[in-house]
Amino acid sequence: MSNDIAAVAIDQLTEAQAKEELARLAHEIGEHDRSYHQDDAPTISDAEYDALRQRNQKIEALFPKLVRKDSPSVRVGAAVASGFAKVRHAVPMLSLGNAFDDDDVQEFFARIRRFLGLGEDEQIDVVAEPKIDGLSISLRYENGEFALAATRGDGQEGENVTANVATMQEISNTIAAAVPDVLEVRGEVYLGHTAFRSINEQRAQDGEATFANPRNAAAGSLRQLDSTITAQRPLQMFAYAWGELGEPVAETQWEFLQSLKRWGFPVNPLAEICTSPEDAIAYHKKISELRADLDYDIDGLVYKVNRLDWQQRLGFVSRAPRWAIAHKFPAEKAQTVLNEITIQVGRTGALTPVANLTPITVGGVVVSRATLHNADEIERKDIREGDTVIIQRAGDVIPQVVEVLSDKRPDDSKPFTFPDHCPECGSVAIREPDEAVIRCTGGLICPAQKLERLKHFVSRQAFDIDGLGGKHIDAFQAEGLVNTPGDIFRLHERHETLRQREGWGDKSVDNLIASIEQRRTIPLERFIYALGIRQVGQATGRQLALHYGSLNAWVSAMQQATNERQSNPDEQKKPELVGDAFSALCDIDGIGVSMADDIVQFIGEPQNLEVIEDLAVSLNVEDAAQPDTGSAEIAGKTVVFTGSLETISRAEAKATAEALGAKVTGSVSKKTDYVVVGADPGSKATKAKDLGIPVLSEDEWQKLIGA
Ligand code: IVH
Repeated sequence: MSNDIAAVAIDQLTEAQAKEELARLAHEIGEHDRSYHQDDAPTISDAEYDALRQRNQKIEALFPKLVRKDSPSVRVGAAVASGFAKVRHAVPMLSLGNAFDDDDVQEFFARIRRFLGLGEDEQIDVVAEPKIDGLSISLRYENGEFALAATRGDGQEGENVTANVATMQEISNTIAAAVPDVLEVRGEVYLGHTAFRSINEQRAQDGEATFANPRNAAAGSLRQLDSTITAQRPLQMFAYAWGELGEPVAETQWEFLQSLKRWGFPVNPLAEICTSPEDAIAYHKKISELRADLDYDIDGLVYKVNRLDWQQRLGFVSRAPRWAIAHKFPAEKAQTVLNEITIQVGRTGALTPVANLTPITVGGVVVSRATLHNADEIERKDIREGDTVIIQRAGDVIPQVVEVLSDKRPDDSKPFTFPDHCPECGSVAIREPDEAVIRCTGGLICPAQKLERLKHFVSRQAFDIDGLGGKHIDAFQAEGLVNTPGDIFRLHERHETLRQREGWGDKSVDNLIASIEQRRTIPLERFIYALGIRQVGQATGRQLALHYGSLNAWVSAMQQATNERQSNPDEQKKPELVGDAFSALCDIDGIGVSMADDIVQFIGEPQNLEVIEDLAVSLNVEDAAQPDTGSAEIAGKTVVFTGSLETISRAEAKATAEALGAKVTGSVSKKTDYVVVGADPGSKATKAKDLGIPVLSEDEWQKLIGA
């Protein structure tokens, strides 16, 4: 019967026949996708395949009510109405540490050996594969059915791009093999060079701006609000990692890659196992020679420890795994003219000199500005306006001036004089002792600092408000709509004014207000990071959130620490002499006196406290979820390891204790809860006994943590 229907002209189909035909087409096209992508063995010609898809689409156009949930054209349809919904990753999407030369690679292997306490003769296998210069993506399958695709975002939360990813030919709707009920496959989406060129040719013909490089083109294509446009861009993917998994699927990274292939995911054919640093370095050389012939951009290699039990033990530091590293290719260089040095004022008042260059293409990207870091750097390299310079650009790093070609220097050139006043607000600019940075002392009276702080506040890792980027902040501030962070959450009261703005319709205003509303609830760690305190990045934001738990607790502890510091401003070495709150702050992993000082200085400025209080009224700042610490026994306790541990390395002991919620410190004090001693303990064990602190053997420690 189906076959008969297949022959019926589309405009002759009854509704019942159309329904049946759509079911058949969904099934048949799905089968062809599978044989093409999983088995690399298409059974029909491209033209026949296209005809099937076209027939499907036309029937759907005639019977829109009948469009199936698993329709092949859902892969090319379903425009998202506005923006992308946010998706919280069940397992964070991580970044990677970098190795720039052979020594860094040797050190990566050595570090793993030390951490795991492996003997010199124990072989460490790593899976090595190209690092694709694309966008990371997480694909979620539930019971073998494609359920969700999300971008990396800040690693914790990305954007829902399911409709767009569904248009990708390489991604199946259904996995035919038996897979865990929840399967998150991660990888990199990219555009091949050939596709990139033809997209740009088309854009140039249509008078549209061309993309600077394949990565930008891929990003632009994936983050399209209209997925029919995405569908016209032949995005591809390499799968290489996993997120949430219903059950374990492999014991090694390599086995995992083989499973991915079996399930039909594209896996990079250049992946190999390397058995030593030398082996990895040789592989790096081989791939760098091959690089120019690849049809896609790569910016280095990635090495991942093959044994998953080792990966598990190695764990993470901050956002990067200890068990993986990116081995970058050397930076690309180019020669150009430095026309002018301008000074940029950052959100913390830092004056950064910027080289304004005659635009030049470096590694596929047009570069017109490069950072000059600070006054010392300009002086050391004697960089002057009018100089011909060599610039370099590596990956996502801001381009740098590496060298001045002094024989090309104009005769009338003069050394650059760094300003001693802020070019934006005229306040005195000072350089603190031991600091390379010269800072504007204007604080929030400096319009540039104020603006940069607002931009930081809405940036991707901070409040990340859809439709409210740096450009909007520029305009809104100039128009007096937004002056402080709190004003953003009062924008709805100004909706009449917004609606009258040029180029803004009701829809864009409604969308903006809706996305601001979405962000009225915000995790504490993001809130702290968004404030833009000097030195407080995302990792510190998280540490502070975890430690203090709630906004109120954090603010009142910081006020106390501020009072303590104000009455004892000079103590540099012993925070405990400053006071309990200050000392507790310095004790948090990764925070020392210098960072604590920046935090208390921030809290000590009344305007900053006003900003926080103003926000607290209109926001719901979520308490930090405490990590699953399993054994409550040592959570929150302070532990010191001393002597040489025999069953586990010091680094692994520390990491395990921290993962269970303990704090590991280097010296014994009355605040220490346990001292764990290995062989030949020294004075720390004695001091512990004197203070009456429990001293544990390695065995006792293992029992305590339930290992
Ligand atoms: S592994 C936990 N493998 O590089 C390990 N990443 O700089 C997660 N990337 O965010 C990453 N190719 O987007 C891995 N073969 C590859 C990769 C790769 C590209 C990207 C990925 C990651 C970024 C880190």
